[in-house]
Amino acid sequence: MPLQDHWNSLYQKAQTDRLGWYESLPQPSLDLIEACGLPKDARIFHAGAGASTLVDALLEAGYSGQIACDISAEALQKVQDRLGAEAGKVAWIVDDLTQPAQLKDLAPVHLWHDRAVLHFFTEEKDQQTYFDLLRQLLQPGGYAILATYNLRGVERCAGLPVKRYDASLLTEKLGPGFQLRQAFDFTYHMPSGEERPYVYTVFQR
Ligand SMILES: C[S@@+](CC[C@H](N)C(=O)[O-])C[C@H]1O[C@@H](n2cnc3c(N)ncnc32)[C@H](O)[C@@H]1O
Repeated sequence: MPLQDHWNSLYQKAQTDRLGWYESLPQPSLDLIEACGLPKDARIFHAGAGASTLVDALLEAGYSGQIACDISAEALQKVQDRLGAEAGKVAWIVDDLTQPAQLKDLAPVHLWHDRAVLHFFTEEKDQQTYFDLLRQLLQPGGYAILATYNLRGVERCAGLPVKRYDASLLTEKLGPGFQLRQAFDFTYHMPSGEERPYVYTVFQR
């Protein structure tokens, strides 16, 4: 099944709050974004936003420059339906981070946020494209928040294989010119109650 159809069908089949990556309040991401100290009109790019409540929480906190991208139009539609008129305050892009089309023409961003997306790119060439795009889009001085399964994480998720990381592997992938500002392990509890170990990292360019 093509990747886009795979993700669309997951979002069609389950209620958002039953998805195995749902967070009612994405607290670790929110805390890390606040700590970056960006102005409220900063351009915040969600790489694989899915149906995450982070977009809602950042709107609530007054951030007006969000760009939500995902390969699944279904996922983004769920957030738009939830937000109603507020959805007009966010830019929405359906695109593939491993074969970017529209994304290549995006203006630079101040923050790149990815939770639980990068680890699905198990092919070296897809990782390369992802990090090339990040380096193309992130402004000097900007931040990249990357949260993935850590080295104790599961080997498959959402029916797909995953690649697990730690802070030093991520540092290596980003290459020179990025400073690691923060890194910590975080245990996420799925709606089923199962635990999933993540690593959260913040880099500054
Ligand atoms: C596990 S979900 C995480 C969603 C969101 N970041 C969150 O924390 O709730 C992974 C997301 O990555 C998206 N995705 C997977 N492959 C992608 C790709 N190649 N390009 C863009 N998005 C992709 C999926 O559609 C899905 O929404």
